[in-house]
Amino acid sequence: MQKIIILDFGSQTTQLIGRRVRELDTFCEILPYNKFPHDDPDVIGVILSGSPLSVNQADAFCLQFDGLRGKYPLLGICYGAQLMADTFGGKVESSDTREYGRANLTEIDATDPLLKGIDVGAQVWMSHGDTITVLPEGFRTIASTPTVHQAAYRGIGEEKLWGVQFHPEVFHTLCGKQLLENFVVGICGSRKDWSAAHFVDTTIEELRRQVGNDRVILGLSGGVDSSVTAVLLHRAIGDKLTCIFVDHGLLRKDEFSDVMGLYEGLGLNVIGVDASQKFYSELAGVTDPERKRKIIGKGFIDVFEAEAQKITDARWLAQGTIYPDRIESMNITGKVIKSHHNVGGLPEKMNLKICEPLRWLFKDEVRRVGRQLGIPERLIGRHPFPGPGLAVRILGDITPEKVHVLQEADDIFIRGLREWQTEDGDVLYNKVWQAGVVLLPVQSVGVMGDERTYEQAVALRAVTSTDAMTADWAHLPYDFMAKVSNEIINKVRGVNRVCYDISSKPPATIEWE
Ligand code: XMP
Repeated sequence: MQKIIILDFGSQTTQLIGRRVRELDTFCEILPYNKFPHDDPDVIGVILSGSPLSVNQADAFCLQFDGLRGKYPLLGICYGAQLMADTFGGKVESSDTREYGRANLTEIDATDPLLKGIDVGAQVWMSHGDTITVLPEGFRTIASTPTVHQAAYRGIGEEKLWGVQFHPEVFHTLCGKQLLENFVVGICGSRKDWSAAHFVDTTIEELRRQVGNDRVILGLSGGVDSSVTAVLLHRAIGDKLTCIFVDHGLLRKDEFSDVMGLYEGLGLNVIGVDASQKFYSELAGVTDPERKRKIIGKGFIDVFEAEAQKITDARWLAQGTIYPDRIESMNITGKVIKSHHNVGGLPEKMNLKICEPLRWLFKDEVRRVGRQLGIPERLIGRHPFPGPGLAVRILGDITPEKVHVLQEADDIFIRGLREWQTEDGDVLYNKVWQAGVVLLPVQSVGVMGDERTYEQAVALRAVTSTDAMTADWAHLPYDFMAKVSNEIINKVRGVNRVCYDISSKPPATIEWE
């Protein structure tokens, strides 16, 4: 399959470049800047990312252009553009002020294929300290802004080499999608052959080749990634896949039975393990959030391992790892890669091989693949839910009674979101990234009927986001909040006050613990 290589020089937006290319139905790989796959016949073009560094720094990341320039179309973004200008004989200097934010292209060479369909005045997003002051000999400027003369340049003559000082991958560069399409499709000649249907077909074949007749085990969480992994594997190897779904007693109301029902409806072979008592007893009296997380993480591995060991012929452990979890180049300085596996240590102990069929996908692609596989929208469109579950939403110690109160309040809120119609014919649930209720360690005075009450307060949390890195509180309709608040106070014994959390991330986080 054709692919674009994105060489990563450490920019925070490198992943976004990858997502934009995939949105053009074109496969891409993000690799550290010094790991170009010279013998890969499928490469059709190369994008050089931005970087926090300056090309004039002694320890700046350099690139060997032998075997790149003249062989593939090249597009340098920000640092990538500066690096090419500097390497090929131009000059890059630090500007007096960092240029950050919105700018408009005031001059454009409309005949250039990179700028096809982009008009004078197009908005772009700048983020740079250095500026290209002199272009290499024979290179020419193809776009400028009032303050940046070399906003975009082209190499010599018809050479397929371009540099842009702005960031086409970010949302605020309104012409960015067009520019990237011009490069990926118009210039590199992408056939746009990366689609969910294609992914499903090739992955099923690949899985059959990879695991053959071996048995595979998989930990299901009810989340999108593990569910899609399970269905893909089931399509490939049928009952040779055994799934394990652990109930730590901190799931939402009826979630364990609901999700088990959905999985069974999909024909999956699932072992459900109710381990709630073990978790409740280990968590009794523990108030420190990090200790809670550790106890749950270890408890989860113990239960999973005990079950997995009963499946004596298992050779593989499948995981729902997705691309952003493992982009090595996100850390091109070579330090730790984020450890995210919730069954860490298990593969070695049980001598299992790892199988990660979603390892190339971004989150939105996982959902597309899930839909392609016919997985019900109720599983695909689910909000993210933290591994430690309601434990991080009960401030202070955890008791089964508190879990019950929170489950009831949370159920009213989430059901309400699922049922509340929005003007565009959708429901409120689909308009927020994530939502839940937090049980506060606070009691307050209230009055119900003729009686004074002294009961607990809960906080509703609902946020909008695209990746959970930043989030804003969701501006839910007042009528909706009034309905939910009434229902919680009237129906959930032990709660007499409902608040709404209006903090954004940063500086707050989505979860309270
Ligand atoms: P925060 O609270 O850091 O959460 O803004 C960002 C996203 O991560 C989820 N989250 C977790 N997921 N284990 C998980 O699997 C955890 O310990 C954990 N803590 C937070 C959170 O629900 C949100 O989607």
